[in-house]
Amino acid sequence: MGGRSSEHDISMKSGATVISALDKNRYNVKPIKIEKSGKWLITPGYLTAIPEKVSPKFLNSTQQNLVPVTANSALHRASEDKVDVVFIALHGKYGEDGTLQGMLELMGIPYTGSGVLASSLAMDKVKSMELYQFHGFKVPAYFIFSKYDSQQEIESLAKRIHKKIGFPCVCKPVDGGSSKGTFLLKSEKELQKAVSAGFKITKEIIFQKYIQGDEVTCSILDCDEKPIALPPTQIIPKTSEFFDVHAKYKKGATEEVTPARLPLPVIKRIQKIALKVHKLLGCSGLSRTDMIIRKGVYYLLETNTVPGMTQTSLFPQAAKCVGIEFPELLNKIIEHALRK
Ligand SMILES: Nc1ncnc2c1ncn2[C@@H]1O[C@H](COP(=O)(O)OP(=O)(O)O)[C@@H](O)[C@H]1O
Ligand SMILES: [Mg+2]
Repeated sequence: MGGRSSEHDISMKSGATVISALDKNRYNVKPIKIEKSGKWLITPGYLTAIPEKVSPKFLNSTQQNLVPVTANSALHRASEDKVDVVFIALHGKYGEDGTLQGMLELMGIPYTGSGVLASSLAMDKVKSMELYQFHGFKVPAYFIFSKYDSQQEIESLAKRIHKKIGFPCVCKPVDGGSSKGTFLLKSEKELQKAVSAGFKITKEIIFQKYIQGDEVTCSILDCDEKPIALPPTQIIPKTSEFFDVHAKYKKGATEEVTPARLPLPVIKRIQKIALKVHKLLGCSGLSRTDMIIRKGVYYLLETNTVPGMTQTSLFPQAAKCVGIEFPELLNKIIEHALRK
């Protein structure tokens, strides 16, 4: 948990919630924390006594007992200790993007979620949009703007936006998450600020047509050898114009309705699309696909291979809706990882 990406803090929350919820009679949990700097931390006995409820604050307070090690030696240690499975609670780069998955493959340690290829494809919003389109799905019109292009005048970027997608438009990192560095731009006056913020996170940003419609997300869980689509959640931000960082993480800022308040045929269609996308990207264990529906068109935004895992996150909400409580959901994710 933790990690180098812009989603470090969210990952700490996911990790702490997962540790708290795992059945201690069944699992001997050994937390590994990765700092923002990339430093890996373990304790001599990992964490010897895990309290019933673990919070990111608790994990930070135990820091003085943690020993900095290289990623390699932490995993080597895990391998020597015959760790059965690594539960990945990292979001974003160097955790959700196939890099860690590749390392675990090489070390022969089973891990939760998707493999190398699906993880990296899903992390890259452009590559996944290309694949969605190849398979006949719709995505909002977009173009890519790279740090290299940024040498160009903002003026010519504004012209490009007017010509290809128009204002308002969305600007977001190609490989970001948690809506970090994502902006809804009403006019070219806001461009410079958004571009600078985006390039603090990544080297490539997407400019995309703003789609105003019903936003939904659909979780897929690999259950007993077969992926199943959970009831989709409808996302209705209360104070924000889109599902931005505030709307995502401020309590009460968004109404999240599971199952979505949409006609049954629409719900079925969402589930069918999310299931197809899970398969076409080659996802494994779990995934969650975000989309916006406008005038009967289903626009795909992205697929998450390590979705948020706090008790109130979208994936656990969807599982709960079909009677799968959080600890049971974790069991299913782990069991799937062990079967892989
Ligand atoms: N083209 C778009 N039109 C309208 N809203 C968008 C568009 N792209 C992104 N958004 C909004 O921004 C949020 C974050 O974008 P998303 O592509 O899901 O990236 P991430 O969740 O990885 O940060 C979405 O949940 C949605 O509310
Ligand atoms: Mg999203």
